Amino acid sequence: MIKILLVEDQADLREIVRMQLEIQEFLVDEAVNLTEAALKLERGAYDVVILDLKLPDGTSISLFDKFPQKLASKSIIMTANATVPSVVEAIKKGAFNYLEKPVEEELLIAQVKKIVQLNHREDRYRSMESEMGSDYRFEDIIYESKQMAEIIDRAKILAKTNNTVLIQGETGVGKEVISRSIHNFSLRKEEIFLPVNCASIPSELFESELFGFEKGAFTGAVSSYSGRFIQADKGTLFLDEIGELPLPIQAKLLRILDENVIYQLKSKKATKVDIRLIAATNKDLNDEVNLKQFRGDLYYRLKESSLLIPPLRERVEDILVLVFHFIKIYNHIYNRAVTRISKEAESYLLNYSWRGNVRELKNTVKSIIPFKKNNTIDLDDLSYSIIEGKEAGKKQLPTLDEHEKKYVIKVLKATSFNITRAAEVLGINRPRLYRKIKQFQLEDTVQGTDTQPA
Ligand SMILES: Nc1ncnc2c1ncn2[C@@H]1O[C@H](COP(=O)(O)OP(=O)(O)OP(=O)(O)O)[C@@H](O)[C@H]1O
Ligand SMILES: [Mg+2]
Repeated sequence: MIKILLVEDQADLREIVRMQLEIQEFLVDEAVNLTEAALKLERGAYDVVILDLKLPDGTSISLFDKFPQKLASKSIIMTANATVPSVVEAIKKGAFNYLEKPVEEELLIAQVKKIVQLNHREDRYRSMESEMGSDYRFEDIIYESKQMAEIIDRAKILAKTNNTVLIQGETGVGKEVISRSIHNFSLRKEEIFLPVNCASIPSELFESELFGFEKGAFTGAVSSYSGRFIQADKGTLFLDEIGELPLPIQAKLLRILDENVIYQLKSKKATKVDIRLIAATNKDLNDEVNLKQFRGDLYYRLKESSLLIPPLRERVEDILVLVFHFIKIYNHIYNRAVTRISKEAESYLLNYSWRGNVRELKNTVKSIIPFKKNNTIDLDDLSYSIIEGKEAGKKQLPTLDEHEKKYVIKVLKATSFNITRAAEVLGINRPRLYRKIKQFQLEDTVQGTDTQPA
């Protein structure tokens, strides 16, 4: 059941809107002023919030600062005068849209349904993404190429050992996915898989982050901290971006691998740990060794059981199976029925360089599917999302500017010219979107719509 909070001080108007919503079988809760609205928002969870702009005890804009999560992209502002600056402010603060009073029933219902649909989709999307992300198994890895088949075979054998595994490959080739699959296929599968991204730890904090410290070990150590190695005891520790590990820590890591004990900061006491280490990097560690940025002895130790994942452009057989795999996922998420790829689009996909590898391919499909009205992905669809021109397909691809403009128009239309939503979809902030609108001379297009604030 969809729950709506309706905030309006005028009793007659409130009654009318409530009836309109209830006919649609929405569950309606009411508030007559800011104070009551704040109370209800604090206690309840609503799918949609309809807010009168001016209330007896203030404007409803103030609610956006108090309840950003509960209102962003979920609220509709009702106002007598759409040109007032506060309407613009409300939209800036994340209101989904506004409606002018007297509110037209059809418009209101359409907006409410849009919010419900969008949020529902996002929920479904989030749960699917986390499902996919957190518990990868070898069965979930999609490939057709001989190279990947060999890598997976090797990974399955390594999974059953306790060996440290080094996974190398460009960004987005699937290093984390394979790490998780190894863990889930190993004897440690019931224990923790703990990912630690070495690139996100400041160098002076590595030691304490990884190995922990006792209370009082240094000024400010008001309590003790176990550290990542101890936290991962009995399970798998995934050191992502191991190329970022500072040299002194590399020396310690080597010792841990040899002795299976860790020494905490300023402590002579050795603690026994039982962990399986998987490390990943998109740097060429061999180069790093030559540059003296990575210890040779650690590298050779890690390399003993390593997996080198080739970039997608070197395993072209995987491209189409991956595309269809992601089409299936995003069809489900966005409620579409795409089943085909045109010959030209296929040839383009196969010849494209995919510098972002599988991640880029996934994002490409993700950006196309929501807009598809028919069942075939063709070259035009790709030209919106893929930047680089290449000798693929016969058709001339538009210049970068041209297709950026086309894409901006497409997103504006798809979001009914709601600038906040459009900026969100485009992944840029609102001022930048306004600049693009100006740059591409789209002001008239945008102004001509009924949802754009003055
Ligand atoms: N063979 C595959 N089958 C299905 N999905 C894949 C495959 N390879 C990669 N992916 C997906 O591609 C995305 C990137 O994969 P992943 O995070 O494992 O890459 P990575 O090599 O760790 O990249 P980075 O170096 O940037 O951290 C993820 O969303 C993952 O689910
Ligand atoms: Mg990764």
